[in-house]
Amino acid sequence: MSEPILLANIGEPDSQTLEKYRSSGGYEGLRRAISDMSPADVVEEVKKSGLRGRGGAGFPTGVKWGFVPKDSSKPRYFICNADESEPGTFKDRLLMEQDPHAVLEGIIIGSYAIGAREAFLYIRGEFADSYRAMAAAIDEAKHASLLGMKILGSSYSLEIHLFRGAGAYICGEETGLMESIEGKRGHPRLKPPFPAAVGLFGCPTNINNVETVANVPLILRKGAPWYAEIGCERNTGPKLYCLSGHVKRPGVYEAPLGVRLHDLIYEHAGGMWRQGLKLKAVIPGGSSTPVLRADESDIDMDFDSVAKAGSLLGSAGVIVMDETACMVDSLLNILKFYAHESCGQCTPCREGCNWLVKIVRSIEDGKGKSADIDLVENVAGNIMGKTICPLGDAVAMPAQSFVRKFRHEFEEHVRLKGCPLKGAH
Ligand SMILES: Cc1cc2nc3c(=O)[nH]c(=O)nc-3n(C[C@H](O)[C@H](O)[C@H](O)COP(=O)(O)O)c2cc1C
Repeated sequence: MSEPILLANIGEPDSQTLEKYRSSGGYEGLRRAISDMSPADVVEEVKKSGLRGRGGAGFPTGVKWGFVPKDSSKPRYFICNADESEPGTFKDRLLMEQDPHAVLEGIIIGSYAIGAREAFLYIRGEFADSYRAMAAAIDEAKHASLLGMKILGSSYSLEIHLFRGAGAYICGEETGLMESIEGKRGHPRLKPPFPAAVGLFGCPTNINNVETVANVPLILRKGAPWYAEIGCERNTGPKLYCLSGHVKRPGVYEAPLGVRLHDLIYEHAGGMWRQGLKLKAVIPGGSSTPVLRADESDIDMDFDSVAKAGSLLGSAGVIVMDETACMVDSLLNILKFYAHESCGQCTPCREGCNWLVKIVRSIEDGKGKSADIDLVENVAGNIMGKTICPLGDAVAMPAQSFVRKFRHEFEEHVRLKGCPLKGAH
């Protein structure tokens, strides 16, 4: 296991304080960016590092910053997305609660790079501790001239607004989030136009995930070549993986992008939680990503390799299931979440999510027919790609993959008129 980089401060006494953060090189990246580099240089440096967004899609961060127009007469905004609502994902809150200055420094550097004078940190409503830690860090940074007017004596000024969400998954989707900041319902917008051109309050906006911005100070402090050496081709840098489910030691683990999934499960997380039980399935990237069977799961955990294996790295929420897990019941659990969180704007998602819950519940309860198994795939297929935002895909992908990969379990429920694994834990 390599030395932690992103988690280096976590668990240290007073890791939240400015003094502690500075004692290990904190805000040196910001100093370098503001004193020695133009905004365009900073964008270039982040491009060279190869950093890809950690919010789910893995889009190259420097390239995204480069999309924000420099000649607009409108204000530009930088948003940090701290909604973190994807089941199985709990890394951003760790960074905010225990290393808030790393997140803050990343936001300030990113804002400088795109020429924003105002930034927003959108924190999921339930994250009271993250909110308190970030608010305290903002206060400390302001008093130390690292934020506010004329940062570090330069001509650059930035205001950061903390915005608390109300606990809606859809407000993690970037345009739903912007609607929410604007005081409206979190209904995602049609794209194009993309936020870089028309974002918050109709102005050019960049949005990045918490973990993404926490990588930025390291790149500026230690340089893009140092960063690009970590990880693997086209997938650079350290990554936080959230391990949950049937493992001995659930938690957040850091490893370079491209670590083997089995190393995460068996070494970092200590293997199956109960002696003698075998791995049955893994969801590699949060509950919206396609499930992998045990025999497909010994893969490299980077954006490209997981996609090649038929799933997605997503938010790296690794959910592990042993042989006592009922795949019908597990899918039902996932579907109930998305049915509850669908914003209702698009008919296929609003109606389809509830239909999927009804059908899969009847199979789990022993009331399903053979034809219902195909119906799950059919309904999911009618949601996939047919909605304004990818929440529709987020429900369709698990539904299709659970049925395709574990069809025999669905058939067994129909044949036995019930769940053979009920009470197996
Ligand atoms: C339904 C839905 C929920 C999302 N939730 C989050 C979230 O909680 N946090 C996050 O960073 N990105 C979330 N995203 C992705 C964001 O829309 C956006 O792509 C991301 O914040 C970009 O950051 P990055 O480029 O740093 O990865 C979600 C996307 C969808 C479709």
